[in-house]
Amino acid sequence: MSHVFVIGSTGGVGSRLIPKLIEAGHTVTGLHRKPEQAESLHAMGSQAHLGDIIDMSVEDLAAATKGCDLIVFSAGAAGSGPDRTTAIDGGGVIKMIDAAKANSITRVYLVSAFPDARRDAERKEGFEHYIRTKRMADNALAATDLDWVILRPATLVTEEGSGKVNAGLAIPYGTVARGNVAAFLAELIERPEIRREIIELTDGEVPVKEAVAGLVR
Ligand SMILES: NC(=O)c1ccc[n+]([C@@H]2O[C@H](COP(=O)([O-])OP(=O)(O)OC[C@H]3O[C@@H](n4cnc5c(N)ncnc54)[C@H](OP(=O)(O)O)[C@@H]3O)[C@@H](O)[C@H]2O)c1
Repeated sequence: MSHVFVIGSTGGVGSRLIPKLIEAGHTVTGLHRKPEQAESLHAMGSQAHLGDIIDMSVEDLAAATKGCDLIVFSAGAAGSGPDRTTAIDGGGVIKMIDAAKANSITRVYLVSAFPDARRDAERKEGFEHYIRTKRMADNALAATDLDWVILRPATLVTEEGSGKVNAGLAIPYGTVARGNVAAFLAELIERPEIRREIIELTDGEVPVKEAVAGLVR
């Protein structure tokens, strides 16, 4: 069993992922930025580490993740402005990479974005910046020798999901329930042999466990 550090632990995906990890027998520590969020993390059986990824140094994050076996990054600025997007979705990932290296943590799971997102909609600079930032974070992680997995969910919807997905290296764009993303991440974590892969994800017809198993080379 692993000790999993979740960045974005209180988000739509993160808060659905943590109970699944705990149910699978893992120990979890969730990074949270508001003191009152510790209570809900503890109620799920998770440990809680207070910190804001914008303010934290690499050393702070390395101290927070010391002793962990793997890191999940599912934080995001969520449309709160380009500077925060740069600092969280971009800079936060760089800090995570450096903290993982400092602690010899090799397994890192990054929730990124689907490359086709809003390609047929009117271009808005804030969203274009978000897509570029996510892409640069993917570039940085993929250039490391860590055992990373980059997950690119399609447009997220706030539902638990049917437990059925479509996952692959290049699949048609769609939507995906946050619960399905969490379930897929939890199952990926059970399959360490899936590493150094970029995976696209939508809701679909294949049960999560089977979809993940289908990605083993
Ligand atoms: N929206 C979409 O359609 C879409 C599509 C594909 C991929 N994604 C990506 O999927 C991931 C998960 O999405 P989601 O819906 O679960 O996001 P969410 O509900 O907006 O949650 C974001 C998480 O990041 C945390 N966070 C924000 N700023 C932080 C900071 N400065 N320091 C530490 N933590 C911070 C939030 O904490 P608080 O609870 O304190 O705010 C929350 O836990 C994100 O990376 C997002 O970019 C989104």
